[in-house]
Amino acid sequence: MGRLSNKRIMITGAAHGIGRAIAEACVREGAAVLLYDREAEALGQLADALRDHGHDVLAELGDITDRQALEAAVSRAREAWGPLTTLVNNAGVNVFHAPLQMPDAAWEQCLRVDLEGAWTCSRTVLPDMLANGDGSIINIASTHAFSIIPGCFPYPVAKHGLIGMTRALGVEYAGQGVRVNAIAPGYIATPAVEAHWRSFEDPVGAKARIEAILPPGRLGRPEEVAMSVVFLASDEAPFINATCLTIDGGRSVVYHDA
Ligand SMILES: NC(=O)c1ccc[n+]([C@@H]2O[C@H](COP(=O)([O-])OP(=O)(O)OC[C@H]3O[C@@H](n4cnc5c(N)ncnc54)[C@H](O)[C@@H]3O)[C@@H](O)[C@H]2O)c1
Repeated sequence: MGRLSNKRIMITGAAHGIGRAIAEACVREGAAVLLYDREAEALGQLADALRDHGHDVLAELGDITDRQALEAAVSRAREAWGPLTTLVNNAGVNVFHAPLQMPDAAWEQCLRVDLEGAWTCSRTVLPDMLANGDGSIINIASTHAFSIIPGCFPYPVAKHGLIGMTRALGVEYAGQGVRVNAIAPGYIATPAVEAHWRSFEDPVGAKARIEAILPPGRLGRPEEVAMSVVFLASDEAPFINATCLTIDGGRSVVYHDA
């Protein structure tokens, strides 16, 4: 028996990076997993690989801002397995600008995906969770949810909001058996972060500068976030609600670099 063998888990942004590691960790612990992503090829490859290992997986192509696609995906999972027990709101995009230089469309893109998308997914699964009196939502926020790096606007606005949503929904529905928590990763080595290094003139130097300010001297690995998702999604965390677990190697408590 795995730690999640009684769970039916939807993971958004499951095709790459942290979402993919979460999917792999959840199926290893016995969960049935609904993979949801907007990138068809990577999504299909992951689903095939997991099925080849005997795991119970559904793959649904869609965008987290598309309510109809979400409803359809959740209803197919309900038909296959019964109602979802768990949602991991992982899909997100880095939108980094100096505030006044930000193109108009960037604000909407960032807030629509990184904040509203998580709400759209949550409102799609919550009715089943409330009807069952059992559910857990895990929002992948960021250390940008409480610290600011200049020039990264409006990403931290959305991630601060995601913590607010975590708290609000966690308090609202705890009495009906639904927990809502967040995880705030620091620098984790994923395709999104690789793209971030490439935005610098000297990508190798940019990465080395960040490694030097992280207490463990390295970036985090996607699996290191996934392990905490397994814990929060499991029955080992029944009284953990409306809170946020930081996974950043200790960087966010450093007063300043010596
Ligand atoms: N990597 C980090 O250092 C880091 C740090 C803090 C927080 N995060 C957060 O973790 C989450 C995952 O980040 P990552 O680094 O693995 O990113 P990534 O870009 O490597 O992977 C993101 C996945 O989400 C999917 N996706 C993006 N927008 C989508 C949408 N609108 N609908 C459906 N799917 C969508 C992409 O196709 C991709 O598969 C994000 O919410 C990000 O903000 C990452």
